[in-house]
Amino acid sequence: MTMLSVRGLSKSFGGLTAVDNVSFDVHEGMIKALIGPNGAGKSTLFNLLTGFECPDAGTVTFLGQPMVALKPFKVVRAGIARTFQNTQVFGEMSVIENVLVGMHTQLATGFAAGALRLPATRKADRMAVERAGRLLRLVGAEEFADAPGADIPHGVRRLVEIARALAAAPKLLLLDEPAAGLNNAETQALAASLRRIQADGTTILIVEHDMGLVMEISDEIVVLDRGRKIAEGSPKLIQKDPAVIEAYLGEEVPDA
Ligand SMILES: Nc1ncnc2c1ncn2[C@@H]1O[C@H](COP(=O)(O)OP(=O)(O)OP(=O)(O)O)[C@@H](O)[C@H]1O
Ligand SMILES: [Mg+2]
Repeated sequence: MTMLSVRGLSKSFGGLTAVDNVSFDVHEGMIKALIGPNGAGKSTLFNLLTGFECPDAGTVTFLGQPMVALKPFKVVRAGIARTFQNTQVFGEMSVIENVLVGMHTQLATGFAAGALRLPATRKADRMAVERAGRLLRLVGAEEFADAPGADIPHGVRRLVEIARALAAAPKLLLLDEPAAGLNNAETQALAASLRRIQADGTTILIVEHDMGLVMEISDEIVVLDRGRKIAEGSPKLIQKDPAVIEAYLGEEVPDA
């Protein structure tokens, strides 16, 4: 089933066309990757999908519902959550509080930290804390639940951001370069985490420069170059595509 349908999406900044007439679909249950050289328009496309930017042209349909021009919080409510290219973990909050922030619309107290600081008398809040713990287990960061956000390794920070996005109970999860700055072991932990999230029933659209990770976890790949879609298909097809190799000239596209 088609979950997300992007048609003719375009966005210019002054004279620069950052996203140029891009169309693709994301089917339910898959991990789809969006790749392309620096400045290809990947983050801008994410911003268009999540209400952070308004397109000049084109449509985005999510589960049959038009999404363009919705405010970011309405996009989240519709079932699309995201992480950002720059890590955003609150250093002074504990890891589990960071996850609860993503649940604030569902908490009875209306404010995440309240769930932990007040006696947990409200059932809804106790359940939220339990769910946050479950999400930390799902991403593989449960051992850091009580650690201050400032004290956790970079790789764990990425996992916590993903858990926080999952706290909104999205059907589609958008990840912008989750492996940036991760070492090999952390990247492998991330790959395992993404597979568990997929198996748990969440569809994933991932922007990523780490080609090893992309080729390993993706069911399908869309390639952007200078705002345009230049290829789309399975990892095997994409690695052999001359237009993709040309766009990445100088960069190695590793074997699957
Ligand atoms: N708000 C903005 N104002 C002006 N130009 C912008 C804005 N946002 C993005 N751009 C430009 O649009 C182009 C695409 O940027 P974008 O951040 O989407 O690329 P990207 O594919 O995410 O790159 P990277 O891999 O480096 O993250 C770039 O040339 C960028 O400078
Ligand atoms: Mg980007």
